[in-house]
Amino acid sequence: MALRPADELAAEPSSLDPIEVASRDEIAALQLQRLRWSLNHAYANVPHYKKAFDAARVHPDDVKDLSDLANFPFTEKDHLRQNYPFGMFAVPRQQVVRIHASSGTTGKPTVVGYTAGDIDIWADCVARSMRASGVRPGDIVHVAYGYGLFTGGLGAHYGAEKLGCTVIPVSGGMTARQVQLIADFEPRAIMVTPSYLLNILDEMAAQGIDPHDTALEIGIFGAEPWTNEMRQQIEARGGLHAVDIYGLSEIIGPGVANECIETKDGLHIWEDHFYPEVIDPETGKVLPDGELGELVFTSLTKEAFPIVRYRTRDLTRLLPGTARSMRRMEKITGRTDDMLIVRGVNLFPTQIEEIIVQIPDLSPHYQLELYKDGNLDAVRVHCEIAADSTKEAGDEAARTLVDRIKATIGIAVKPVVHEPGQVTRSEGKAKRVVDNR
Ligand code: DLL
Repeated sequence: MALRPADELAAEPSSLDPIEVASRDEIAALQLQRLRWSLNHAYANVPHYKKAFDAARVHPDDVKDLSDLANFPFTEKDHLRQNYPFGMFAVPRQQVVRIHASSGTTGKPTVVGYTAGDIDIWADCVARSMRASGVRPGDIVHVAYGYGLFTGGLGAHYGAEKLGCTVIPVSGGMTARQVQLIADFEPRAIMVTPSYLLNILDEMAAQGIDPHDTALEIGIFGAEPWTNEMRQQIEARGGLHAVDIYGLSEIIGPGVANECIETKDGLHIWEDHFYPEVIDPETGKVLPDGELGELVFTSLTKEAFPIVRYRTRDLTRLLPGTARSMRRMEKITGRTDDMLIVRGVNLFPTQIEEIIVQIPDLSPHYQLELYKDGNLDAVRVHCEIAADSTKEAGDEAARTLVDRIKATIGIAVKPVVHEPGQVTRSEGKAKRVVDNR
């Protein structure tokens, strides 16, 4: 089936929430009113916020303008850990109808909670995201984000139901079965991490199924960084429109921001529920829109788990609205905590991804390995010969890879070229860096 052009798939203006097309003044007025409510709610009901605001000598009633938020203290992952498990909740536990948690790499998981009203707003945000992605009521949606404590599966699920779709709650894993269900149930949209989608596409090839012959027309990809170069590769191989969805458990889950299919120019932040700031990660100073820094969010409507100036560690910049009046965030480059510093040069895995996916004789699966070369840190790039390429072509491709990395990033890496299928596959969030130092 030939892919329909994206502008034919854009949401009808009449189907949008009025706030999606409101003026900036209207949005700001709503934000200020909600911000004051949210700060008061946190201050009155969460001991951590009372203590933190008092220590910073700020009070929610002092907020006269959105810029006054900059006087309030940040919330960091450690604060959530210190209040493990339920200490950050702002409502009696009996009103919390759902718990999610993300299993950080170290220490205790971060626990978040939702009231019935929070679940409803979350579903609205995901439904809005899916509509922006081109999904319509009545569509069949295959959800391959993991179901469980991770917010991806259930978050996508409730949003799809809310939009009026038929949901297939497959969750992650059992890749052969994923392919069978896509062939048999004919979903129009799939929601999955981009790295797992690549894995599903490989399985389709192994089963002799051409993705262009399936009913899939839209993929809504997030939960991990992925580049525009990866988008081009996925769209060409997968025969679908690849749209970016962003979110994190601490803020609500997926559906904090989403691209519009007709523009694919960064993700509109659903600013009526989540107030964004971008700060200098070193100094904490708020940066003007357009400058690259760390994304910080304040929830405006959440009841069970209000969050004030949460430092996401995600790096991006705020841009003006295009297809919607709400501001966009640029596609995420990486996180402050997955930036590698190799012999003084800063390196994000996405920079390597951009280069790998542009070399036809390499598959898009990759992993970086940090190791010690004497006293110095060094990087091996594990990559893989494309399924239809030869060993010789793979070796040549590896030389190209090394040259391009040297030329664009300025570091020397060691390539390790594997046979097709040998680089670790993802069934959820890809692990891009292995630290063997
Ligand atoms: O990954 C929520 C989610 C599920 C988003 C499904 C989209 C789709 P966490 O497990 O708490 O929540 O991880 C949040 O994942 O701070 C980013 O570093 C990263 N992330 C999420 N979406 C994107 C994206 C979910 N579109 C962390 N691009 C965030 C880049 C993303 N990174």
